[in-house]
Parts: sequence; C-alpha cells; structure tokens
Amino acid sequence: MSIDPVVFMTTLVRRFDFTEKDKEILKANADWGLEIAAEMADHFYGYLGRDEEMNAVLNETEGRVHRLKQTFVTWFHEMFTGIDNWGDNYAQRRWKIGLVHVKVGIQPQHIVPGMATVVNEVGKKLKTEGKSEELQAALGKICMIDLAFIEQSYIDVATNAVLKETGWSAALFKRLVSNGAASM
Ligand code: HEM
Repeated sequence: MSIDPVVFMTTLVRRFDFTEKDKEILKANADWGLEIAAEMADHFYGYLGRDEEMNAVLNETEGRVHRLKQTFVTWFHEMFTGIDNWGDNYAQRRWKIGLVHVKVGIQPQHIVPGMATVVNEVGKKLKTEGKSEELQAALGKICMIDLAFIEQSYIDVATNAVLKETGWSAALFKRLVSNGAASM
C-alpha cells in the first residue's frame, strides 16, 4: 500500500506550519528565485561532483549533468511558484522526483546533505541580497517538505517491493523490521 502524495502534502503542510503567508512571500519572490536558480544549481552539482560516488552517478550517462542542471532550475523555481498553489500537482510532482532517485539507485544518505547544500547556499544569497527573514523561513519550510517527499519515497518503494514479492502483510513486515532493529 503506497502513500497518497496529496494526503502526504497536507500532512507536511500542517507539520511544518507552511502558512498562506509563507506561500504569498514565496510567490512574490518567484522571479528572484528563477534568477538565482542556475547559480544554486552550480553549487548543488559542484557539491555532488566532489563526492566520488555521486560524481560517478552524475557522469554515468552522456549529458546527464547538463540535463540535471535544467531540471534543478525548474524544481527550484517551482518551490516559489507552488505550481498549483502547492496543491495536487505539486504533491504528485514531488512524489515523482523521489521515485526517480530510488529508480536511479541513489543512496538515501546522499539526499539530506544535498538539500542542506541548497539551504546553506540560498541562505548566503538571501543575506547578501538583503532579503527578509520571512522569505528565508518560508524557503526553509518548502525545502524540508520537498526533502520529506524524497526520503519517504525510499521507504515506500522498498516496503512495497518486499510486500509484492513475498505476499507478506504490512503488519508482518513491520514486525520483522522491529525485530531486526531490536536484534542489532
Ligand atoms: C535535494 C536533493 C535533490 C533534489 C531536489 C533533486 C532534484 C532532482 C530533479 C528535479 C530531478 C528530475 C526528476 C525527473 O526527471 O522527473 C532529479 C533527477 C536526478 N537526480 Fe536529483 N535531486 C536531489 C538529489 C540528488 C542526489 C544526491 C543525486 C546524486 C548523484 C542526484 C542525482 C540525480 C539523477 C542521476 C537524476 C536522474 C537524471 C536523469 O534523468 O538521467 N540527485 N533530481
């Protein structure tokens, strides 16, 4: 049983207290977000490229880094526009981004440091450009919502794959995981 991205989005909006005011401030700065997106992409892929394992993934296929820089710009800008006011389309899109990473075989341990780089670099940029703390807070929340989507997709895909292959119930799988953790 897979999670419903739309329901998950609603839960995350509540948990992170992502308010209407946060949405307004992001939308008001959407042009600025697009302006700085390519620079943020350079920081992001520069960081990933300095890690041997991630660098190998990035250069696995011809033109991948180039394509990724473009998809990063779109992703970054969408955090400001909200696509459909951070509604169903936004949730589905974020869920799909998570699934792409699972499919490509990127270890989940790389995701949090990657997002931390974005938060860090955008934080520096906000400061040098004299942007408000409210914008920083709103951006921080939406970055964490997007991060939660990618992280959740790993456990969801893994659990579903095991349940499908084995025919086990979700309760049995949960018990086995708990027992496994207890014996470590
Ligand atoms: C903050 C974390 C990350 C964000 C927001 C992000 C964003 C994205 C986006 C928007 C896509 C395109 C998805 C699509 O095609 O629908 C993508 C794909 C991809 N990302 Fe990430 N990414 C993150 C972390 C990473 C990390 C740590 C790696 C490690 C190398 C990575 C490597 C890739 C690869 C290989 C693809 C598929 C490229 C292809 O289509 O050939 N990403 N990512």
